[in-house]
Amino acid sequence: MLKKIKVNDVRLGMYMHEICGSWMDHPFWKRSFKLTDEKDLITLKNCGVDEIWIDTSLGMDVDTGVTALLQNEEELNVENDLKNIEQSPQKNTVLVPLQVELIAAKKIHSKTKEAVISLFSEVRMGNAINLDEMVSLVAELNQSIKRNPSALISLSRLKDADNYTYLHSVAVCILMIALGRQLGLNESMLTQAGIAGLLHDIGKVFIPDEVLNKAGKLTDEEFNIVKMHPQKGWELLKKTSDVSDCVLDVCRHHHERIDGMGYPDKLSGEALTLFARMGAVCDVYDAITSNRCYKKGWEPAESIRKMAEWRNGHFDEVIFHAFVKTVGIYPTGTLLKLKSGRLGVVTDQTKNSLVKPIVTVFFSIRSNAHILQEIIDLSKSTDSIVSLENPQQWKFNLVEIMGV
Ligand code: C2E
Ligand code: SIN
Ligand code: FE
Repeated sequence: MLKKIKVNDVRLGMYMHEICGSWMDHPFWKRSFKLTDEKDLITLKNCGVDEIWIDTSLGMDVDTGVTALLQNEEELNVENDLKNIEQSPQKNTVLVPLQVELIAAKKIHSKTKEAVISLFSEVRMGNAINLDEMVSLVAELNQSIKRNPSALISLSRLKDADNYTYLHSVAVCILMIALGRQLGLNESMLTQAGIAGLLHDIGKVFIPDEVLNKAGKLTDEEFNIVKMHPQKGWELLKKTSDVSDCVLDVCRHHHERIDGMGYPDKLSGEALTLFARMGAVCDVYDAITSNRCYKKGWEPAESIRKMAEWRNGHFDEVIFHAFVKTVGIYPTGTLLKLKSGRLGVVTDQTKNSLVKPIVTVFFSIRSNAHILQEIIDLSKSTDSIVSLENPQQWKFNLVEIMGV
């Protein structure tokens, strides 16, 4: 069973499942392991982390009298949960094949990126925001997502650490529209969802670059400065004419959490609007899947699993489920090992099953060699998924294989 315990209560012999909170640069980042070395224990206690998930089925349990936050095992059964999501159909339908839509999607994506870069620089110079331009860009993005959401969703994963803030704004915009479609929002709400994505982090223009782009963990003082960005952005947009309440709301409340532990207003439960709930999920997904100047991004499929584990406190359950349906359990770009001994990258989703995506196979593990590329629809094939693979280990250029 998984238990969340205080780092002070960690003892040798426990199995470290996941380190919570200060995820950025502690030495054990991303690893699950049995704690056997006294030196590791000391490092762990001194790396600024408060809490940790331990797995009591793989290591020592916690002493009695410890303030362990026991979690219901069922609640944490992510596999089961993701399977349940799979039972209900996807609303996003595909009208155009991915490779075709990518051509249009690339153009609108780079146009939007340029527009966001100049938006931020105008705001930095104290100039007004040109909302009309945003509205027409969002309309184009919306059309592309309507034709095939995988195209823009895949493109939004390609980021360089330098342009993060801009590309993150474009990505959250795309995810908000795709999620909005999944939730059945009408066209005018989809427009607001997209604008909200583009503008949600606009308050970051008021945060000094040396803090925002710091190549390491922020001090408490620096983090307090960063935490001012929702309020600062909201104040700016409040002064801009024609900005809707939804857009203002996402800007101010995308860092609120369902359990009230977020900021700046510590809203919880019912106080959080639909749009704020959507913003929180899209923001975190894009942030954790991106390479940053201070850490490497996680793989999409791994990120979905992690978010499923945190969702109790952080996210709205229903919105998170809809989000999983939007990006898939094996999002486009995921590297998979198939039963046939081949490696493939997910290049598209299928309509009927979230766990049977379309895969482009390109490598045979048995012969340890590249093979002629072939596109396989797992919902119609006898081949099936064996495991998720780590592309860093294999050193393939998945982007090239996907033709993005
Ligand atoms: P961001 O990088 O765009 O991240 C947005 C949110 O995604 C974060 O909000 C957090 O909820 C989630 N997130 C991002 N990366 C991780 C991760 O590795 N693990 C987990 N569990 N969650 C993650 P948060 O924490 O309020 O941070 C707000 C902003 O503060 C971040 O926006 C980023 O710009 C900045 N920031 C936070 N920590 C650091 C850091 O250690 N170094 C630097 N340079 N910036 C940081
Ligand atoms: C964690 O860092 O493990 C949990 C963070 C969250 O709920 O967002
Ligand atoms: Fe933010």
